[in-house]
Amino acid sequence: MTLLVHTRADLARARTALPGTVAVVPTMGALHEGHRANLRRAREAADSVIATIFVNPLQFGPGEDLDRYPRTLDADLAVCEAEGVDVVFAPVESELYPNGRTALTTVQAGPDGDILEGACRPGFFTGVLTVVAKLFHLTDPDLAYFGEKDFQQLAMIRRMVRDLDFGIEIVAVETVRDADGLAESSRNVYLSEVERAAALAIPHAVRAAQNSPDPLAAAEKILADEPSLAVDYVAVRAEDFGEAPEAGPARLLIAAKAGTTRLIDNAPVLIGDPDA
Ligand code: PAF
Repeated sequence: MTLLVHTRADLARARTALPGTVAVVPTMGALHEGHRANLRRAREAADSVIATIFVNPLQFGPGEDLDRYPRTLDADLAVCEAEGVDVVFAPVESELYPNGRTALTTVQAGPDGDILEGACRPGFFTGVLTVVAKLFHLTDPDLAYFGEKDFQQLAMIRRMVRDLDFGIEIVAVETVRDADGLAESSRNVYLSEVERAAALAIPHAVRAAQNSPDPLAAAEKILADEPSLAVDYVAVRAEDFGEAPEAGPARLLIAAKAGTTRLIDNAPVLIGDPDA
């Protein structure tokens, strides 16, 4: 039976009663198969599982989709129940930010937080790291689960945990894709049929990159052939999000808009000829 709590006081009481190792799965709700994979992995590894559901206003820029972001608490609770979650923490904004959103003490990512997603969405990683740090303090987990779909976010959270000595193990869960290849995202519900068809160029580009010794060029070529996608970036970074190596394993990352919906994707790639 999943216990739903809305306040930090109720969360603290519930947390004290949880036995053994505790895993947390932070989410903004609108749970899909990607979240389910995170919850399942957490359930397998830990004695107790907490899911958090909070649409964090701090990580949305002006003109972004904060107001229309899907909020589906009843359906999310059914998912958490089915996945064996012990506690769901779903606070309102004033519970997490009692002193308001402005003039807050925040957590800043290092310089790699200013590129790619950070360049396209100024303030995004400050918002993410600040809320994740707060959720880590409030839930006091041993393990925390995040999807690889948000690869730069995952890298910035890993660095925060390392640099600020959180002592929490961060576990990455592989991206879950729909049958047509599109990575699961709560924002996919915004896509019209035509936009979704155009958006499929993103997973096609990812696959092309995975089958090429020049992953960047391969992905760029596929994306250039889909004029109705507005590409924000195609880039290759090292697996730890440092500079990409000249040759060897790396990560290809893509962000593009189909209509007004911004989508991101990434995959491991190999730069150069493995037999060279
Ligand atoms: O990936 C998300 O859903 C959010 O960025 C997170 C990590 C829950 C922080 O609000």
